Amino acid sequence: MRYIGGKSLILGKIFDVISDNSVIADSVLDIFSGSGVVAEAFKQEGYQIITNDLLYFSYSISRGTVCLNDVPKFEYLNIADPIAYLNRLDIKNPDFNLDDCFIYQNYSPNKNCKRMYIQNKNAIKIDIIRKTIEQWKNEQKINDDEYFYLLASLINAVPYVSNIAGVYGAYLKHWDKRTYNDLTLEKPQIIKSSKINFGYNMDANDLAGKIYTDLTYIDPPYNSRQYLPNYHILETIARYDNPEIKGVTGLRDYQEQKSLYCQKSKVANTFSELLNKLDSKYVIVSYNNEGLLTTKELTEIVKDSGIKSTFKLYEFDYRRYKSKIPNCDDGLKEQLYFIRKK
Ligand SMILES: C[S@@+](CC[C@H](N)C(=O)[O-])C[C@H]1O[C@@H](n2cnc3c(N)ncnc32)[C@H](O)[C@@H]1O
Repeated sequence: MRYIGGKSLILGKIFDVISDNSVIADSVLDIFSGSGVVAEAFKQEGYQIITNDLLYFSYSISRGTVCLNDVPKFEYLNIADPIAYLNRLDIKNPDFNLDDCFIYQNYSPNKNCKRMYIQNKNAIKIDIIRKTIEQWKNEQKINDDEYFYLLASLINAVPYVSNIAGVYGAYLKHWDKRTYNDLTLEKPQIIKSSKINFGYNMDANDLAGKIYTDLTYIDPPYNSRQYLPNYHILETIARYDNPEIKGVTGLRDYQEQKSLYCQKSKVANTFSELLNKLDSKYVIVSYNNEGLLTTKELTEIVKDSGIKSTFKLYEFDYRRYKSKIPNCDDGLKEQLYFIRKK
């Protein structure tokens, strides 16, 4: 999934830092895992991975993809191909009542709703699929791995039919071409491994220190833009908890998911607490030179948390990957901070 601050383009740089510092590690904690793309890269390289994110939809994706080592067998479901089955569901099924379809009622145009996030047919399909997955779980026809595998498949399919310019902070005023496509679930790619992986859905600072991993990768938000408002519909599909919503975009309350990493007055202490609590031999931090913390501030915080002589800062031009303008240097640098704690 396209994700704000997603690191798919700098995976090579992260592994360069690892080899440059002769890091010998077996387990990695990706403590702000977002789309899960970094954890996935580590898993490909043979590491045991532990993921964590404050957002439940991110946790659901990780639990249902990178944390699994095999495609679930769905032994008790009696359906040969559950993803194909879910793709075939439609509103003609008599078990479904449009009044209970939260996504259709609140994010798709109808007599009660003006929001244009998702076309009617796809909104209804999301509700039906989501309810079916929940029902299978409640009837104990699927276990937790199977539940998250299906949920991850649904969440990953939704952006492909959403009427947005990347995030759910606003919807477009005219239907984008992609919204006319049929919502289609794909089978998540599962990377084989013999290591036991875990996923957590916690505040990073609460998790820090509770588990040991050889390496921790830290990729927090860099600015004051909170993640939940930008992904609120995916969060609601994942939780499917009929939240109270408000405003033009139908935003759910997110008091408990407000990140201190997005608050100028809190970020320094929060970062410092995290780094000091972490139980890891090595730490790699992603940030950039225009974040809420200046390079000088973050350098001091990172240095203070480990063996000072092992500290290194790697900086590289990020826009180079994104910009279509050759040699465009607008001064924005992506950064990787390395420290050895033990
Ligand atoms: C820059 S993104 C991570 C991107 C990820 N590395 C990727 O490549 O997709 C930051 C993530 O931190 C999460 N987050 C923000 N504050 C958090 C906190 N206090 N504890 C755990 N996760 C947090 C956000 O939900 C978001 O997914």
